[in-house]
Amino acid sequence: MATFTLPANSKIKKDGKVHSAEGGSRIKKFKIYRFDPDSGENPRYDTFEIDLDQCGPMVLDALIKIKNEIDPTLTFRRSCREGICGSCAMNLNGGNGLACTTAIEDLNGDIRITPLPHMDVIKDLVPDFTHFYAQYASIRPWLQTVSPTPSGKERLQSPEQREKLDGLYECILCACCSTSCPSHWWNSDKFLGPAILLQAYRWLADSRDEMTGERLDALEDPFRLYRCHTIMNCANVCPKGLSPAKAIAETKKMMVERAI
Ligand code: SF4
Ligand code: F3S
Ligand code: FES
Repeated sequence: MATFTLPANSKIKKDGKVHSAEGGSRIKKFKIYRFDPDSGENPRYDTFEIDLDQCGPMVLDALIKIKNEIDPTLTFRRSCREGICGSCAMNLNGGNGLACTTAIEDLNGDIRITPLPHMDVIKDLVPDFTHFYAQYASIRPWLQTVSPTPSGKERLQSPEQREKLDGLYECILCACCSTSCPSHWWNSDKFLGPAILLQAYRWLADSRDEMTGERLDALEDPFRLYRCHTIMNCANVCPKGLSPAKAIAETKKMMVERAI
């Protein structure tokens, strides 16, 4: 177990496995998954006791407090702290979510924090997104056209055409949905998973894109699209309130319509 040096005025001390906040009236325990590949040790849980009266309201506030005041080696991703960048996605008491938009008080009992499930772990709460981003790149997530660009103009959309992107463009690629989908757990090498399929439909639904046929061809495969079995975890867990399941259903509908 590593030794920690605390600031002289810190009210928090480390004494082995439980790191305690002294004298607080509202103490919350955080049990956090720890893994350091350089140590050669097995993963473990460390428990930190935090006085909620000395901490901001969100889970990310507690993680930052622990890192700043107790254990600077605790490793996690975060950037925007307002649900925009998607980097603080992790598993909180068994459910995937964003640490920055999840209130500590909304989680009952001790809070157990682990990395997103079914991904390789780089360190502590940091999962490896290499495969996720490779799957994202595979759907060619950009506007593809064959017609010449209107000279000096943007490619325009009507308000109705633009509205079709609502519920899709807001995706922050946090992977909370894909890592909560059992089909993706078992077939993540071939099934694209809900996040990437929502992104694929975002371009299928875009009136300006001219590669609809090619995009559908690329999904016409027993695994890439059709391994979705409507389990719906994706729609239940999305921190932005999106429904990848609906996007997948719309994509399947487009497949059927073009076959008729
Ligand atoms: Fe995250 Fe929701 Fe996008 Fe899935 S659909 S990656 S859960 S924002
Ligand atoms: Fe998975 Fe969502 Fe389909 S949880 S099986 S992608 S409905
Ligand atoms: Fe950006 Fe949480 S820090 S979504």
